[in-house]
Amino acid sequence: MKKTVRDINVEGKKVIVRCDFNVPMKDGVITDDNRITAAMPTVEYLLEHGAAVILMSHLGRPKGTANKEFTLAPVAKRISELLKKEVIFASSDIVVDDEVKKKAASLKVGELMLLENVRFRAEEEKNDEGFSKELASLADIYVNDAFGTAHRAHSSTAGIASFLPAVSGFLIEKELKFLGDALDNPKRPLVAILGGSKVSDKIGVIEKLIEKADTIIIGGGMAYTFLKANGYNIGNSICEEDKLELAKSLQEKALDNDVMFMLPVDSAIGDKFAEDCKSKFAGSSTMPDGWMGMDIGPDTVRLYREAINRAGTILWNGPMGVFEFKQFENGTKQIAEALALSNAVTIVGGGDSAAAIKKFDLSHRITHVSTGGGASLEFLEGKTLPGVDVLEDK
Ligand code: 3PG
Repeated sequence: MKKTVRDINVEGKKVIVRCDFNVPMKDGVITDDNRITAAMPTVEYLLEHGAAVILMSHLGRPKGTANKEFTLAPVAKRISELLKKEVIFASSDIVVDDEVKKKAASLKVGELMLLENVRFRAEEEKNDEGFSKELASLADIYVNDAFGTAHRAHSSTAGIASFLPAVSGFLIEKELKFLGDALDNPKRPLVAILGGSKVSDKIGVIEKLIEKADTIIIGGGMAYTFLKANGYNIGNSICEEDKLELAKSLQEKALDNDVMFMLPVDSAIGDKFAEDCKSKFAGSSTMPDGWMGMDIGPDTVRLYREAINRAGTILWNGPMGVFEFKQFENGTKQIAEALALSNAVTIVGGGDSAAAIKKFDLSHRITHVSTGGGASLEFLEGKTLPGVDVLEDK
């Protein structure tokens, strides 16, 4: 167990908090502020307990240069609106300069400041010791609450912990609890729903879940690699030819472990990969040549929903089809609705499935929607997250 902000005295201290404010933006406007709101309980706790708070984050991938397209200025504004409080935005192309140091030094208890995008500095992603020290020099305590970036060993997520007392915030604590319990202490049956386009992205997580889950449901583009491995004609559906053997062996392992491994029995198919393509339904054994699977079909939806209804815990990562295209959103939507209606503990891994849950306006009906895409996948694979590993143990 890692120490959290509850386990230390923050009164009168300057606390630097790494958050994941890597939020989607369109024309400088934040289109989903979930990651910002998710970080606020830690910030509020610190302010209420007598700390002066310095926030830092990355946004996008500016590749080590001060590209204003990736400024955190809109995030400062959004935090200020959420907390109804001034946020001092320490704008600097090099993140930490003399002016920023002065601002940090004079920051008073109850005040809040946000640094500029830490990825404006090339040293950040190299976990450079010098940059870690510069960040650490601004504060007395380091808090990591950036679950979404905890799988990266960077200066602001890992290196800095060598120079300050380091504990976790409430978001990391919550994420580890929900994802950890789903793996190690689930209410059974544990049903894992895995989608997305590529088997190769999910190998680690499928292997891990074969050891833990009672049922594994496969959807999305990667289902077609499994179907082809089982001898089905998949037309022009997406397929990773070099993963056919692996797809077979994963199913054999599932069988050995008494894990029910479910593949689509039918699909919504399109004549090309386009929003306005011609579409129809086809059984998995009657896929016509020249067509491609774009979504799970109605019979599959029914079978998957039945499995979901029997679950004690449901873990969902990856959409069931091309839900960005209206005519192929049904499978993902139906699975999202089944989770929303279920009495099971429901956990949605971040990234595309979190976006789908949001699109269908069902986030509030899910037990836990993770703020981590890559991070939640790596955690579910059983990998150590560097941003968590560096924190002090209880
Ligand atoms: C994410 O959105 O997954 C995190 O913020 C990490 O971003 P990165 O993949 O650019 O490191």
